Formats: sequence, structure tokens, C-alpha cells
Amino acid sequence: LSNREEARSTPTTVGAIASDALAYTAGRDIELDLELVVADCLGTAAHVRMLAGMPLEPPILTPAEVDQVIRELGAIMEDHRMGRFEIQLADQDIHLAVERRLTERLGDVGMRIHTGRSRNDQVALDLRLYAKDQLLGWIEDMANLTASLLRLARQEEATPMVGRTHMQKAMPSSVGLWASAFAEGLQDDTVVVTTAYELNDRNPLGSAAGYGVPLPIDRGRVTRSLGLRRTIHNVLHAGHTRGKNEAAILQAAGQVMITLSRLSQDLILFSMPEFGYFSLPAEFGTGSSIMPQKNNPDVLELLRARAARVLGHGATVLEILRGSASGYNRDLQEVKQPFLEGIAMTRSSTRILEPIIDGLLVHRDALERAFTAEVFATDHVLDQVARGMPFREAYHRVKAGLDDLSRQDPREAIARKRHEGATAGLDFDAYDRRLEEIRLFVREEREGFEHAVSSLMETDGSKGHHH
Ligand code: ARG
Repeated sequence: LSNREEARSTPTTVGAIASDALAYTAGRDIELDLELVVADCLGTAAHVRMLAGMPLEPPILTPAEVDQVIRELGAIMEDHRMGRFEIQLADQDIHLAVERRLTERLGDVGMRIHTGRSRNDQVALDLRLYAKDQLLGWIEDMANLTASLLRLARQEEATPMVGRTHMQKAMPSSVGLWASAFAEGLQDDTVVVTTAYELNDRNPLGSAAGYGVPLPIDRGRVTRSLGLRRTIHNVLHAGHTRGKNEAAILQAAGQVMITLSRLSQDLILFSMPEFGYFSLPAEFGTGSSIMPQKNNPDVLELLRARAARVLGHGATVLEILRGSASGYNRDLQEVKQPFLEGIAMTRSSTRILEPIIDGLLVHRDALERAFTAEVFATDHVLDQVARGMPFREAYHRVKAGLDDLSRQDPREAIARKRHEGATAGLDFDAYDRRLEEIRLFVREEREGFEHAVSSLMETDGSKGHHH
């Protein structure tokens, strides 16, 4: 039998397709969609509750049938937790795998659950529910790393560190300024991630294939029962946000990864023996198979490379979307892999840096030894300016006498910059307040989501009543 004949002779759930084409179109969904099991079950739970509430006679599903479906969805989620839920190639994806299971167990009831929706809006909702949970965890990861950087900055607020431009010695600075710069960077990145979270927090379901359905569905009810902020209004637009939503999240991930990658680059540089400013915690270094003395910063190097990959994933997604005509196109499926991987990489990168910052050894002597006289050149200029000399004149005088410039006390030099945001003008309380706001946001969003999910999954049985 040719592939084509073989496929024709085996009944598939949706249409008949050559097995090569099936494998090609399913792509990596069989494995990647396992990430979406919980989201798919929650989305389906919200959908069936809404279906049962539609003013139709007879109803699509009775309340007792809804309970059956919800209980079975709960069982699927439990199987998945135990690593027992499987998506088969014939299922193509998580959506048909769940429908198959519900139909196997519940017969006619299972055959009704896909009423009034399409996999197009279903997968768009799944990805948003998945992202909602991930984004909250991710913002929390960022808050934790920010807290570590602020702890280091506070502790080393008075520790001098040569400030550099072009990687050359420039002006007196401090470890506190350096560390809190990255903390503030992460706080700004959190604004971008939170914006992506808010864009994500919308319900596309009810768009169906992209053009709505001639049934009295209640989209707002689905939105509320999932704890999402609003419904994406225009059904065609709802479909168009697939991929763009992922791109916005990946752009946010890119911002975060750039901050983390530059921090890593600095850590690699300043922990080189030639600098000796910092030592990385030994348990985060890796050895060499040939050179016994080695303790290499592989974690930080991989983070740098993964930043490149996350940025690449963002570009991949935008390229996939660029030429897409309106309405659903299967191209969108190809967004899934870079999206899931981009989130996972950004989160693991954020988390791995936290213990590295916590365990960082700061060598104050080496940091101070780097303060050669020329580091103070600009301070000398500005001292003369403060006594009345025009800036350009003072600049030329200091430049002419660079060789006999005197070294100052770096601790004094950093204590003298007291204006807002400089070495002695850092507002750590403001950093802490921003951090608290973010933690509160995550806590409230999480509570709202968890509350919605638990009412959604509640059945007569789970309330402790027995029939
Ligand atoms: N796995 C598919 C995706 O990610 C689900 C939607 C399939 N829709 C379709 N019309 N073939 O896009």
C-alpha cells in the first residue's frame, strides 16, 4: 500500500490525509502541545459551561453533562501531571487528543464539546492561558533577581569601582551604581513584560474559524469565567492577534535577555583574573576536560548565546506573520516552537543569575587598586570649575598636565556625587517601592486567576456531594 492508500484506509478524526502530510503538518505539535494540556482543558471547561447556558431547546449540554465533562477534564489534567497523557499522531494536536478522550469516555457528550468553536480560536486561547501563567511566574523571577541585585548594590554602595566608557577607564563609580543600574534595567523591562501581560490577558474564543458562528454564544461569559480582562471584540481581528501576541511577548523577552546578557558579559569580564573585581560562586563554574585549574563561566556564556536565540525567535515570529493574508493560515502553527522556547529560555536565564549574584564575591582591594590617577581627571576639571574657572579652560589645563595628575581617594570621590541617581544619590527606597508594587501586582493577578480556575473546575462531586 502506498502511504496515501494506507491513510485512506485508516479513519482519522478530521478528514483523510496522507501519512507523510499528516506528519509534516502535525510537525512538532505532538510534543509541544503537551505544554498546553492544562490550558486546553481550562479553555474547554469554560466553553462547555457557556454552551450549557445557551438559550437553546434542547440545550447542547445539560448541567449534569457539564459536570461529567469537567470531571473528565480534571482527570486529563491529573493524567498529564502524572506524565500519562499522550497526544497521538492521528490526533494531530492537543485539541483533538482531548476531544478523542472525552468522546471515548463520554460518547455523545464528548461529540458536542467542539460546538461553536474552531481549533483556530481554541489554540489562540490556549496559548494566552499558558502565557498568562508563565508571565506571572516570569515577572516574579525578574522581581527576585532585581531584589538580589539591589541587595548587592546596597551592600556595596560605598565600594569604589572604576566607571568605564569604550571599556576604558573613565570616572570614579561604585559597585552599588553598577548593580543597581541592572536592577533598574530589569524594573524597566518589567514594564514591557507587564504590558505584554495586559495585551495577552484577552479572550479570542468565539472567533471560531475567524468569522463567528450562527449560535447564541456568550463570549463575555467565557472571558469572565477564565478570569481574563476582556474579550477581543472583532472575531476576525481575534484571529489576527495569534502570533502578534506571541511576538509582543517575545519582544519583551528580548528586552529582558539584553539586560541579562550585558550583565553576564560584565560578570565574565570583571571576574577575569586580569581584573579580579569579582569571583563567581565556584558551584556555577564548569571545569575543563584537559585543564585541571579551570573554572569557566559557561553559564554566563550560554546566557549570552541564548539572548541571541530569544531575539532571533522574536524575529522569526514577525517574519512568519509578515506575509500572512487575513484569516487563519497554518503558518501560525510554526510560531509555537519559538514562542514556547523563548519564554522557557528567558525564565531559566533570569533564574540562574539570581544565585550567581547572591554568591558573588566582591574583591574591594582589586577594585580600589584599579583607581589610577587618570580616573580622577574629570573630577579635577570640575573642581576648578566649581571654583570659578570656565569649563573649557579647566579641561585644557588638566589635559596639559595629565602626567602629574594626583590620585584621589576613590571612596571620597564617589561620596561627593550626591545628586539624583549618582553614586551617593541612589534612592534605594524608591527601588524597593517599585519592587513591592510589582510583587503586589503578581499576587493579585495570581489570586484572581486561581480563583477563576477553581470555580471553573468545581463540580458537584468536587464540592464533596455524592450522587
Ligand atoms: N495546531 C494548529 C495550530 O497551531 C491548530 C489549528 C489548526 N487549524 C486548522 N485550520 N488546521 O495552528
